[in-house]
This record gives sequence, structure tokens and C-alpha cells, in this order.
Amino acid sequence: MNHTHTNPIAAPCVMVIFGATGDLTKRKLVPALCNLAADNLLSKQFAIIGFAGNDFTTESFRKTLAEEIPKYSSTKINPAIWAWFAERIYYVKGDFQDPEAFKRLAQQINDVDKEHNTGGNRFFYLAVAPRFFSPIVKQLGQASLTKEENGHWARVIVEKPFGHDLQSARQLNEELKQVLAENQIYRIDHYLGKETVQNVLVFRFSNNIIEPLWNRNYVDHVQITAAETVGVEHRGSFYETAGALRDMVPNHLFQLLTMTAMEPPISFDADEVRNKQAEVLHAIQPLSPEDVLTCMVRGQYGPGAIDGTPADGYRSEPDVAPDSNTETFVAMKLQIDNWRWAGVPFYLRTGKRLKHRATEIVVHFRRTPFVLFRNTTVKNLETNRLVIHIQPNEGISLSFGAKVPGAVMKLGLVNMDFDYCTYFGAEHSTGYERLLRDCMAGDPTLFQRADMVEAGWNVIQPVLDVWHALPARGFPNYPAGSWGPVEAEELLVRDGRAWRPIGEEEIDHDRGCSDDGSKTAAAR
Ligand code: BG6
Repeated sequence: MNHTHTNPIAAPCVMVIFGATGDLTKRKLVPALCNLAADNLLSKQFAIIGFAGNDFTTESFRKTLAEEIPKYSSTKINPAIWAWFAERIYYVKGDFQDPEAFKRLAQQINDVDKEHNTGGNRFFYLAVAPRFFSPIVKQLGQASLTKEENGHWARVIVEKPFGHDLQSARQLNEELKQVLAENQIYRIDHYLGKETVQNVLVFRFSNNIIEPLWNRNYVDHVQITAAETVGVEHRGSFYETAGALRDMVPNHLFQLLTMTAMEPPISFDADEVRNKQAEVLHAIQPLSPEDVLTCMVRGQYGPGAIDGTPADGYRSEPDVAPDSNTETFVAMKLQIDNWRWAGVPFYLRTGKRLKHRATEIVVHFRRTPFVLFRNTTVKNLETNRLVIHIQPNEGISLSFGAKVPGAVMKLGLVNMDFDYCTYFGAEHSTGYERLLRDCMAGDPTLFQRADMVEAGWNVIQPVLDVWHALPARGFPNYPAGSWGPVEAEELLVRDGRAWRPIGEEEIDHDRGCSDDGSKTAAAR
């Protein structure tokens, strides 16, 4: 993370969006650019070229975006900013594999460069289906659009999924590297654009009270949850080929895992940080087929209800096979074989159509060595727990035991809470602002390097193999609106632990209430 950019305003450049007529452009990319412009972080010498197969002209593309963006942007678009934007948006119609179309694109880039003085710098955003990643980069190379000459830069942002297993990720890396140098490739994972994910590093490495406790001597185990209430929405045909494991684990969940478990880097330079993240992935204990059977849980939602509203089962979603065996939930137990974490299990879970939407990292600390309050009415003194709330409410809370007021010694579990929004005010970010700006500034810290992507796939490849050989039986195995299959609970119960009950008050009346029964201690 290069915090020493001397100029916070991004460098002059042209952004070319492949697949510009798709959802990502209107939902995230253009709103994020508008937010950057509103915060005065975008160069005045900037332009966008949309490239796609649909029948648009520059005029009609501008008009469509003008209508669509206000619907999707979380901030009100300032008309002056939009007017400025509108005159620097262009459209090129073409096929992603047609050399002629790339010649037209090259011409358009030249014209735009002259018109808006973009300094010969360009970056290409691949907001397209993964099968087009390689062909587009090949065409860019053939059209000489990826050459970096005379101090001008050319970069490519690649969306996820980056491959669908280890072998395909390696092959994609190989193909991209035939055209691009590694420092031109920006593999994006939008989780790294989330404020609280970045804050994990700040929290750990700028506070002297945290790091001494952040290891096997004090930490009992770590839980990472990314729970969604939504189903697969209109993405059934994609999801059928992906499933929860590929869709969320080697990318988003492993970002959270590596941020939590990595060693302190010697600086915030991109490669220093990424080396430490990669080390964590390399240290994850390889899963044997037996481990896959005992430490991995998969699930698929059946019909149920979310907040009282009936919800269909996965197999009834559009573009999903009625006998689909695709998993929509996964839970796992991983061990990190290194000095800091040996013997500390990391439990990860993610799923669709779960009870609450919540992404969080929970660090459970060990019990005190000597239970001084054994003879009070406290039966099982709760252990300290640090929760990093990633979404929807960003913040950090630390729970600890406190004496419940009264003549009898009773202990309650109380929370110390830090809420991002209360403290810093609401942040209207799409999560893409930071990442787009970093790419324009040439800072790849928050992007995935080739070896990290491969290391992530390497961890889950044994799971893909075993699950492929032994298709799931008994799907659907959890109702929409629950916390997933019962096996996910058992995964922790077997180890004498339990998932943090998200969204429910954790009051044990024996502990957390005073004698008249009124609540004295509450947890989030
Ligand atoms: C995407 C997945 O990468 O992340 C989706 O493809 C998932 O299936 C989404 O819903 C979750 O992102 P967020 O930011 O809503 O947690």
C-alpha cells in the first residue's frame, strides 16, 4: 500500500472497459469514478472508452449511462461532474476476438489521447466472461496496445473468477504473461476495496496492544464468516459452473484469512505485503482426501423463508438444473502450519440464503489460565472475543467479562464497540474507488499476484477433486433462512466450540442478567 503517493490525484489516462454494456459498468465502475471525481481524486485528463458487442454509438452510450447511473449510484451525482464526465465517454462496437475491432479501438484511443491529453497512459478493465480474458489480452498485444514506451504505462485489470481450478489458473497466468509483464496485470478482488478489510492491517500493525496477543499462545481459534441472505439471483447459469467454494473461498475468504494471519511486513510496499500474504497460503496444511471428508462441509439451500418472506430452493432458481448438485454453502476447518498459528484452527464458512447478511472475522482468545471465579454462579466463563465486522455494519467489537452489579458475584459478557459509521460518518463508496485509483497510480498492493492466485487454488484443489469424485448426496440440506447444514455446526461442536451466533443477543440469563431478570450485559 503505497501511502507516499506525492499526488493524491490519479495520473492522466484512458480507461477502456471491455463488456461496457454489462452490469458492472453501471453498478460499480462509473459510480466509483464519479465518487473519485467528486473527491477530486481523478485527473482532469481522463477519458473512458466502452467496448462491447452491443449496438451503441458514443451518443447513445452516453445517454444510457446518464439515465442508468443515478439509479445505481449510492451518492447523488453532481450535475456538473456528470456534464464533465459525459463529454469524455466514448464507445467502440466490436467483437472481442476481431483484430479489425482492435484497430478501431487503437484509433479511438489515439484520438481520445489527443483530445483529452491523457498522456499516452491507458488501462483496460476486463468486465467480461472469463473465457474472453485471454483472447482480449492477445488482441491487445497484437494491436500494440499493451506496449509501455516513453514513460507511458499500459495496465490490465482482470475480474474474478481467475480460473476455475489450479490448472486453469496457471494456464491463464501463462497466457497473460505472453503479452504482459506481471506488473501490468491487476487481478482484482473487490473484498480488498472494503475499508474494514484494509483496516485489519492498520488495526493489527499500528496498535501495540494487539500484536503481542495475536498468536497461538493467546488465540484459541479464528472464525471467518461471509453470509448472504440473497440467493443466486439472475446468475444461475454462472453459479451452476462455480458453486460457493470457487465463487468465494480462494478469493474473498482467503483475503480475509491472509490479512488476519499474515506476519508483519517490513514495509507497506506492494511486494512486501503480498509476500507475507502468500506465505500464509503456502503454510495452510494441505488437505488429504480424509481431511476433505472430515473438515469440509457443503450444502445447498432448499425452500425456506428469509425474515418471514418465503424463498425458493436453489433448484427452483432460474437457469439452475432441477437436480443440481452445486453447493451454495461451504464450511471448513484449516490449519496454518507456522510458528505463530500451529494448532490454532481457522474455521471458514460462506453461503447464500442464510439467516443474516454478515461478513466478519472473529478471534476467540484462550480461557484464562486460572479460573478464579469458579465458585460464583458463573458456570462457563465466556472467553474474550474480538469481532471485526466487515459488513453490513463496519466496526470492531471486543467482548470481555464484567461483574454484574449486585451483592452476589455474577459475571456478564459486555462489549466494547467501535462503529465506523458513528465515528467517521457514512462512507458512500462502491468499494471500487480505492482499487481503480490504485491501478491508475500503479500501486498493486491490493491486487492479486500470479503466485497468490495459484496458491489459493492449490489449497482448495484437493476439495474440488474429492467433491468431483463423490458428488453430494442429500441436497438440498438446509432451508433458506437458516445457518446452513447441521454438519457445519457439528464441525465446531466436535472440537468443543460453536459458531458465533450472528444477529442474536447472546445473553445467558444465568450470567448476563441481574437477580430481577433485567438484562445487564448485551452482545452485538
Ligand atoms: C462476488 C460473488 O464475487 O461476491 C457473489 O461472485 C457474491 O456470488 C459477492 O454475492 C459478495 O460480495 P459482497 O461485497 O456483497 O460481500
